[in-house]
Amino acid sequence: MTADANPGKNPAGTEEEKVNSGRRWVNTILGTGIVATIASFIYPAIRYVIPPPVSEASNLSVVAAKVGELKDNDGKVFKFGSTPAILIHTPGGDYRAFTAVCTHLGCTVQYRADLHEIWCPCHNGIYDLQGRNVSGPPPRPLAQYQVHIQGEDVVVVRNA
Ligand code: FES
Repeated sequence: MTADANPGKNPAGTEEEKVNSGRRWVNTILGTGIVATIASFIYPAIRYVIPPPVSEASNLSVVAAKVGELKDNDGKVFKFGSTPAILIHTPGGDYRAFTAVCTHLGCTVQYRADLHEIWCPCHNGIYDLQGRNVSGPPPRPLAQYQVHIQGEDVVVVRNA
């Protein structure tokens, strides 16, 4: 028979220890629930305020039009990745493509056949057919893209 090291102590724990253990358990459950509830409100708000980065390929190629779709001295805005772009069939018969996002405050530009220029309706900004800002508030030229004719397609390409 071995001697008990703590003869007055109940090996299963005192009644007070059992109550404290139960309280810790309940506090842990409640604490976890409160944290989970707060996280469920905060996480969507953070995801809304800070959207995930749009993964866009650095090289982008889009069929902007069919050959013959645009007559000379005509243009069209098309979706180029996540932003608009503009394809112009110049009076001389060349194709040119630029971003359609104005360098002033980001309005979408359009082709003005009567002026033979690219026009931003927001503040009367004007770009020439090289994409250069020639009048109004735009501070920089429009980024130009490459245009290739592939069969019946007019393909616009942006290189990295
Ligand atoms: S946004 Fe284009 S001129 Fe102001």
